[in-house]
Amino acid sequence: MAMVDGSEQIVVRHNGPLAGEVRVPGAKNSVLKLMATALLTDGVTTLTNVPDIADVAIMADLLAAIGVTTAWHPTEDRTLLLTNRGEISPVAPYELVERIRASINVLGPLLTRCGKVRLSLPGGDDFGSRPIDMHMKGLEAMGATFEIRHGYVDAHADRLHGATVTFDFPSVGATENILTAAVFAKGTTVIDNAAREPEIGDLCNFLVEMGSDIEGIGSSTLVVHGVERGSLRPVTHEVVPDRIQAATYIAAAAVTHGEIRLRNARCEHMEMLLRRFADMGLEITPQEDGMTVWSSGRLRSIDVATLPYPGIATDYKPLIVTMISVGEGVGIVTENLYPGRFRYIEELQRLGADISTDGHHAVVRGVAQLSGAPVRAPDIRAGAALVVAGLAAEGETVISGIHHIDRGYDDIVGRLRALGAHIERR
Ligand code: EPU
Repeated sequence: MAMVDGSEQIVVRHNGPLAGEVRVPGAKNSVLKLMATALLTDGVTTLTNVPDIADVAIMADLLAAIGVTTAWHPTEDRTLLLTNRGEISPVAPYELVERIRASINVLGPLLTRCGKVRLSLPGGDDFGSRPIDMHMKGLEAMGATFEIRHGYVDAHADRLHGATVTFDFPSVGATENILTAAVFAKGTTVIDNAAREPEIGDLCNFLVEMGSDIEGIGSSTLVVHGVERGSLRPVTHEVVPDRIQAATYIAAAAVTHGEIRLRNARCEHMEMLLRRFADMGLEITPQEDGMTVWSSGRLRSIDVATLPYPGIATDYKPLIVTMISVGEGVGIVTENLYPGRFRYIEELQRLGADISTDGHHAVVRGVAQLSGAPVRAPDIRAGAALVVAGLAAEGETVISGIHHIDRGYDDIVGRLRALGAHIERR
């Protein structure tokens, strides 16, 4: 599994256009949920196209504490085997839960399978608090009771029942927890205003392959007809490609005026983003199994606002801000999901970017050239954006805090180096 070493740094040097081919890994925000969902069935679940990232190792530790063991396949690349012998202890301790947000995804499977869960309350992120009120409200509508004491949530429901759960906001995590909980609930659950991210579609497909009964996959109304506990079977499933990692390599090609081919990328999962990238002057051509990207000249600025899928994802934003910061003109970038997700801007300013923030808006004035400097990655996506900025910055950019990047990026250094970048870990 990917190793995390807090003292390592990524060093990037400007060196002109990237060229060549890169294979996009599987999606972090899908695989972590699929792993948690393996709690629903005994036997060996096989996941392919699994990214080798630190968060997968952390989720594996959490599942091991609960009773599911995880191992890389001895011969097949990026293939993970999850073994569930049915000896489940529905307790998710603080030391493991606080390490990743996706640990909250064990709530739905454990509650519906075991009738009770004891889960440490998840902490926030550097970019804001991360409440779970919508998860709890939805499960309460299905018959669960909650007690919060000493930083732990105790949830009970001998058997959940179907209900109509209408979200005020299409939360990704809450949609996933209600969905997995509904699989063994008695009767039918309707999730209205469900999140529609491609990773949720991947989770739905995985559940259906296991024997769940779900209608409306890909839409904002999911209908789940509960099946009996014990009736799911373990399956082999390929993790959906990571649209955020794909966007990272597109951004890298864009700021270096390069020409690259992305393999294992799904244009249909990135439609809105690719349209906006075209507005910035990128030539993106869909290909079988991916796309080609060509950036022939200086990028044009755009105004953009983050929204739930199919809108522009908040996770793309640091990349977009970086691209505009070396583009021509002024762009306004509005954050609608996490009000505090602008901390990396100070780091981009250290590289010479001209950005000011006002509330949840950033005003980005393009400059002709960034200049390398030491910077610190504040979170996964911002860290990747600093790597991209370093590719466009004259001189050397030294990025610390790269354990954040390792949480979500499978060998970004090797992949960029294969495209011709001057980049190394040290
Ligand atoms: N929210 C609530 N109450 C809830 C749930 C969410 O107020 O009960 C709020 C959150 O505080 C946030 C907003 O709703 O302001 C969005 O939260 P959502 O539940 O949709 O996000 P999430 O499931 O916690 C996932 C990804 C994030 C990504 C968001 C939005 C995972 C593990 N995380 O988080 O990814 O930004 O969806 O698309 O899937 C990342 O990968 O770096 C990352 C942060």
